[in-house]
Amino acid sequence: MADNKRPIGIFDSGVGGLTVYRALHERLPNERFIYLGDTARVPYGTKSMATVERYALENSEFLASRGIKMLVVACNTASALALPTIREKIGLDVAGVIGPGGRKAVEITKNKEKPRIGVIATEATVISNAYFEAIRRASETAEVMQKGCPLFVPLAEENWTREPETFSIAAKYLADLKEFRPDALVLGCTHYPILKDVIQQTIGPDVKLVDSGEATADEVADLLFDKGLANLEPVTASRRLCDDMDHFYVTDAAERFSRVAERFLGIPPKRLEAIEVYGGDELRQKPDR
Ligand code: DGL
Repeated sequence: MADNKRPIGIFDSGVGGLTVYRALHERLPNERFIYLGDTARVPYGTKSMATVERYALENSEFLASRGIKMLVVACNTASALALPTIREKIGLDVAGVIGPGGRKAVEITKNKEKPRIGVIATEATVISNAYFEAIRRASETAEVMQKGCPLFVPLAEENWTREPETFSIAAKYLADLKEFRPDALVLGCTHYPILKDVIQQTIGPDVKLVDSGEATADEVADLLFDKGLANLEPVTASRRLCDDMDHFYVTDAAERFSRVAERFLGIPPKRLEAIEVYGGDELRQKPDR
């Protein structure tokens, strides 16, 4: 198969990376995607670097074995902790979400001399300082404040996007950031775009929210065009989100993934399979339940 006709691989710790899949799908309608959600081992956001690196490598090797043309690490935690290792071991172009999110925040900030940028993410992403470093690479003078918001993950999966409890948790998490008065706030976790309205209302209308998945989709599009890897022809006459041109794999609980996917995207994946990624080529298919 010609290289530009190959699919793009995407992995996440679970269902959250579907926000990145949606952004990629919208930006690149001629592309096909293979998505892996590591639902057996989610969450990554509370785990150590060594563990996240191991999981991320196993996921990447699985997708590479599927003949992808490039890999997108949709999970912010895996991008923050494991990107250098993945790039070293996988002989493919690899895009993470941290660099694009950090660069986009600096680009849209109104105070160019001293951008003030907030970042919300999982605990592991905050501790890694990966966003801080990406933002500082784009602007040496940027002031950065980061905050871990772990409860946003289950709230998004429950679809509690308007409940008073979600607003009060957001008020507590974002209080210091509000005082910091950022120009831009990076949604540094796959799930946070689902809670965009609550976050915007809590932080205030003047703060620009940066969806790192959307920023990544723009950079992936540029990379594919620059390298001659973009598919220039439509894959079908009527391309749709989650249609059978895209293939979804999970490492556990396919039925739950499908339900939450429908909440996030409005439609469940058509082609969804449960597999095991551990042990490299000893891939085993899990029976459907
Ligand atoms: N996908 C993860 C991230 O973007 C959030 C969920 C988890 O902790 O695994 O950081």
